[in-house]
Amino acid sequence: MIVQTSEELKSIQDISDIVAITLKEMKQYAKPGMTTKQLDNFGAKVLKDFGANSAPFVTYKFPGWTCISLNNEMAHGIPSNRVVVEGDLVNIDVSAELNGFYADNGASFVLGEDINNKQELVDTSIEALNKAISIIRSGVKISEVGRVIEKTAKAKGYKVIKNLGGHGVGRSLHEEPECILNYYDRFERGRFKKNSVVAIETFITTNSTFVDTASDGWTLVGNKGGFCVQHEHTILVTSDKSVILTVKNGI
Ligand code: CO
Ligand code: CO
Repeated sequence: MIVQTSEELKSIQDISDIVAITLKEMKQYAKPGMTTKQLDNFGAKVLKDFGANSAPFVTYKFPGWTCISLNNEMAHGIPSNRVVVEGDLVNIDVSAELNGFYADNGASFVLGEDINNKQELVDTSIEALNKAISIIRSGVKISEVGRVIEKTAKAKGYKVIKNLGGHGVGRSLHEEPECILNYYDRFERGRFKKNSVVAIETFITTNSTFVDTASDGWTLVGNKGGFCVQHEHTILVTSDKSVILTVKNGI
């Protein structure tokens, strides 16, 4: 969406705060030994207390309130009876709707002790997200985001997923621009527009450049034995520094 009034700005900020607080509280709640369904139930309660709805459920009938993806899963993991264990790489993606406004927010983190040595991968993704957001202002080419994310990932020996991307958000979960890639695409001629709301996301991995849909019909997975991380903020594009609307998640 393009924000045109102060009322719209307040509405998009409100739902951005809600998804960010939910994500932060879910991260704090996550403990080895719990199921991803228990973690999702907790997130659902936080969202319901705010009066918000699950955006993937409202939009796609996703079977859960939030998406929880583990280890070599990149996105759209279904909350289930799977138990998370020490050292798992956990990704929580919270997107929600309130009064017709949508925001989208995600983060990966190492659960408990880092027995698989994956903190560097997580840190690289956060660095890539922050660097990408720092260059965005109105008039900047959308393709510059991919250039920055890919460069940051490759500098540490990691790969980026080529068939996923960030997106516009605001009056629905996915809007124009449709795919803000994680690599430089010279055919992408679009530029960021002033006062637009976009979700910027990283998709960084140890050994995959594409994701496939798992047999459950939802989960997007990378190659076996690998690890995938994602960090996502909803931002407001201005003619100067971008405003991170989901800043309350603390990533
Ligand atoms: Co998301
Ligand atoms: Co998104």
